[in-house]
Amino acid sequence: MNILSIKNLKKVFRVERLFTGTKQTVIAVDDVSFELKKGKVLAIVGESGSGKTTIARCIAGLEDYDGEIFYKGEKINYKDKETRRQVQYIFQDTYNSLNPRMKIKDILVEPIIFHFALSEKELQLEILKCLKDVGLKEDIINKYPYELSGGQRQRVVIARALVMKPELIIADEPVSSLDVSIQAQILKLLYDLNKKGITVIFITHDLRIVKLIADEIIVMHHGKIVENGLVNKIYKKPESDYTRKLLEAVI
Ligand SMILES: Nc1ncnc2c1ncn2[C@@H]1O[C@H](COP(=O)(O)OP(=O)(O)OP(=O)(O)O)[C@@H](O)[C@H]1O
Ligand SMILES: [Mg+2]
Repeated sequence: MNILSIKNLKKVFRVERLFTGTKQTVIAVDDVSFELKKGKVLAIVGESGSGKTTIARCIAGLEDYDGEIFYKGEKINYKDKETRRQVQYIFQDTYNSLNPRMKIKDILVEPIIFHFALSEKELQLEILKCLKDVGLKEDIINKYPYELSGGQRQRVVIARALVMKPELIIADEPVSSLDVSIQAQILKLLYDLNKKGITVIFITHDLRIVKLIADEIIVMHHGKIVENGLVNKIYKKPESDYTRKLLEAVI
């Protein structure tokens, strides 16, 4: 079953030039279509500015767009609380995605009580379980985001997505700001979550990572898909020159 089906997605930004005030348009995503099967990991790669985050933001309902996005066979409805729970977007910038004035405990409790009716005890157990799942110690719950390391913050962001019991996680460059050893741990975490049945869209610049985690890959260039298919096939025999260049750069 396709968990996600994207048809002719297009996003145009209108921007005003700083000094002249003239209006310009940027076509961030240009006629992008793809399908994603439940339980798979899809990597979206491409250089900076190629439209990866914009695709993610459209899927997460954070941008309006042209084209259509179907979730589980129906046009995605962001007003549906259940859909908002099932589709979780992990932002590129973890620092700004955690409210600096909230303790980690409250950051995790807030979405749970919005979506689930749990007793105080159940709530506590749920939080402890999620912290354990992402490899964080209990004592972190009384800290503020600024008191954490980058790797710990990234785990909190993932834990906050997990408390929602998501079915689709869109992780936007979840490891690029982290040390290599921490990168490996977070990747393993996403890999394990996928093995538990969560479908993952993994956005990255880094083609070395893609092979470790993804089943399928989409290569973006200037807002368009230049290549789409199974990772193994594309690594062995890329069809577009652009993909070949990206691959040559890492081998
Ligand atoms: N809110 C916005 N307003 C105007 N232009 C935007 C906006 N968001 C993105 N863009 C433009 O759209 C294009 C695609 O940006 P996007 O953030 O999707 O790229 P990306 O592939 O995620 O890049 P990176 O790898 O650097 O994160 C870029 O030209 C960017 O400048
Ligand atoms: Mg981006």
